[in-house]
Amino acid sequence: MQKLLNWIDERFPLTASYKAHLSEYYAPKNFNFWYFFGSLALLVLVIQIVSGIFLTMHYKPDAELAFASVEYIMRDVDYGWLIRYIHSTGASMFFVVVYLHMFRGLIYGSYRQPRELIWIFGVIIYLVLMGEAFMGYLLPWGQMSYWGAQVIINLFAAIPLIGEDLSIWIRGDYVIGDATLNRFFAFHVIALPLVLLGLVVAHLLALHEVGSNNPDGVEIKKLKDPETHLPLDGIPFHPYYTVKDILGVVVFLMVFAAILFFAPEMGGYFLEANNFIPADSLKTPEHIAPVWYFTPYYAILRAVPPILGSQFPGVALMGVAVLIFFALPWLDRSPVKSIRYRGPKFKIALALFVIAFVGLGVLGILPATELYTWIARVLSVVYFAFFLLMPWYTRNDSVKPVPERVTTK
Ligand code: HEM
Repeated sequence: MQKLLNWIDERFPLTASYKAHLSEYYAPKNFNFWYFFGSLALLVLVIQIVSGIFLTMHYKPDAELAFASVEYIMRDVDYGWLIRYIHSTGASMFFVVVYLHMFRGLIYGSYRQPRELIWIFGVIIYLVLMGEAFMGYLLPWGQMSYWGAQVIINLFAAIPLIGEDLSIWIRGDYVIGDATLNRFFAFHVIALPLVLLGLVVAHLLALHEVGSNNPDGVEIKKLKDPETHLPLDGIPFHPYYTVKDILGVVVFLMVFAAILFFAPEMGGYFLEANNFIPADSLKTPEHIAPVWYFTPYYAILRAVPPILGSQFPGVALMGVAVLIFFALPWLDRSPVKSIRYRGPKFKIALALFVIAFVGLGVLGILPATELYTWIARVLSVVYFAFFLLMPWYTRNDSVKPVPERVTTK
């Protein structure tokens, strides 16, 4: 075995990579449960790719056949129902995990210098993931697939000058049609997953270059053992965190299985009732709403009234609502990273932001009555205030002293 390993190592950095990224990657010893969500996002990515491969074996990307091929998977393919439910539940769970992963970044200031690039790769992953989910949703060719895509692609038509042409270019037709389904299939099964995988590799390379942050926001590389030159507060990722992450995986799989076997539609939040009706270009459903993970942005879109008959301001604001995450590393001016040592201003701002984000998410599902639209307007202002006022409230907050070493209680 040793001979074989030597033979490989002379030609490929196998042992070197194993050491650099696992057995000799020193991670802070004070990780808590918030640090499970990165490895869980990796797990869900693998689950989606593997279940997706099996779905592709039976699915037909053809407007005449797509809906029936999904029903065929559900009824006739051996364990087809399981594969499909794994994939549809996985899509929602991907966003649950990624939102919690991003929230961890917010509370511990993980986006701060020197981790700006980890964060930027993360936000690009988030954008690509949204595209991936949106295109995948068209594939079952149900009423909601069809009309949801119709609404979203029509938003592009609101862009001045190029909008009309752009939306036709995206659809490949004047309405959503077979051409749209074919290209969305190509993007969903190969183009975007490839991009996602590449981005995740970049995300992790950037992480391993600078090292992980931790719940105290203390840089463990600053304090090294004078003899071994290893961080005093670091422990090897393998075996300590590989074993710890297994706990996260087990709990996650229990939740995942519970949803899968007992509530795969999750009361219409993971799979909508309207999507069990074949797409009909002549029958617009009464109430069109995107899947839950898009609804905060959808609510922002609907909160902005059309100006001179154009929906563009709403579309633009919705775009800015997502893109503003890129700016976070430069908006935060606090001398400390972790919420543990921040003052009340940041804590209040973050709490209001969470209320706004969740509130907008709920409003995005509900019909846009006048009252709800006004609430959405207020919450949109709170949402943007979190970012735009950040340079001010983080600089003027009363912070607590940060300890030299990480704390383990
Ligand atoms: C497919 C999606 C993603 C995967 C597979 C992934 C994977 C990971 C992994 C394995 C880690 C190290 C473990 C951990 O700290 O939890 C990590 C860290 C990190 N991720 Fe992600 N990630 C994803 C999406 C995102 C997104 C959307 C963002 C932010 C917009 C993000 C921001 C970060 C940050 C800032 C860190 C460093 C955290 C720290 O050291 O405290 N990630 N990611």
